[in-house]
Amino acid sequence: MTADTGFDLQGARVIVTGGGGGIGAAMARRFAAAGAVVVVTDVDGAAAAEVAWQIGGLAITADAASEAGVQRTIAATIEEFGAVDLYCANAGIAPEGGPEAAAASWTRAWDVNVMAHVRAAEALLPSWLERGRGRFLTTASAAGMLTMLGSAPYAVTKHGALAFAEWLSITYRHRGITVQALCPQGVRTSMLAEAGPGVRSLVEPTAISPEEAADVVVEALADDRFLVLPHPEIADAYRARAADTGRWIAGMNALQRKIEKKR
Ligand SMILES: NC(=O)c1ccc[n+]([C@@H]2O[C@H](COP(=O)([O-])OP(=O)(O)OC[C@H]3O[C@@H](n4cnc5c(N)ncnc54)[C@H](O)[C@@H]3O)[C@@H](O)[C@H]2O)c1
Repeated sequence: MTADTGFDLQGARVIVTGGGGGIGAAMARRFAAAGAVVVVTDVDGAAAAEVAWQIGGLAITADAASEAGVQRTIAATIEEFGAVDLYCANAGIAPEGGPEAAAASWTRAWDVNVMAHVRAAEALLPSWLERGRGRFLTTASAAGMLTMLGSAPYAVTKHGALAFAEWLSITYRHRGITVQALCPQGVRTSMLAEAGPGVRSLVEPTAISPEEAADVVVEALADDRFLVLPHPEIADAYRARAADTGRWIAGMNALQRKIEKKR
């Protein structure tokens, strides 16, 4: 493990939530190939077990959003491997709709996309601060920097996830805690396959594979960058949004009208 900048995956003890599929599974495989010991957690226990079996990791069936699930995962990792060096808060859900979406959808999105990260940080920070070292990788989304057409719960909670990651980094970076936020646009996983046809038509042309996203994560672990952007053009859109938010909203509204025609 290097002392200051960068993260050595060789021998690192890594937890990946939502590791049974999509981006999480690709990260788990990529980390294991680089020599990490990976704990794959997922609500889908069979999916977690299959990925863990493929990479010689440990599978844990757990809800990343529940305090009990988070604590059990971290305790099992410490018991088995001694410590957690990298926690990937990757599990996420994308319910559709706006204010009319069911209250339960809003609550679940808040729990899985934001509170899961808060609960994990709460459980990890005491030992990380004592060691003076620890790394937290949030899978937010380009939706957390910009928006998500058709899903207010997703847009809002991914902004929350990014805000929490920023806050953690601001508060603890001088105490050895490194925080990074993965913010891809389209990635060809079941989440994208289940999106509406309008969103898919916008995002699919530039969608990348989960393996490509995982490769960018590995590059980013080496240089500690906060924003991890497998679609570099998102940085331009983020700048444009900050420079003239009204104009950005008008542009996004034009895209909204375009996807409404595809429904
Ligand atoms: N696919 C995309 O286009 C895209 C783009 C940007 C960000 N993301 C984000 O990437 C992350 C991974 O998404 P994906 O595309 O790989 O999705 P996916 O649906 O393919 O995989 C998500 C995995 O998380 C698991 N999961 C869901 N809720 C969980 C919970 N509460 N606890 C534990 N596991 C849970 C699922 O069972 C599944 O195996 C999410 O946070 C998502 O918001 C995805």
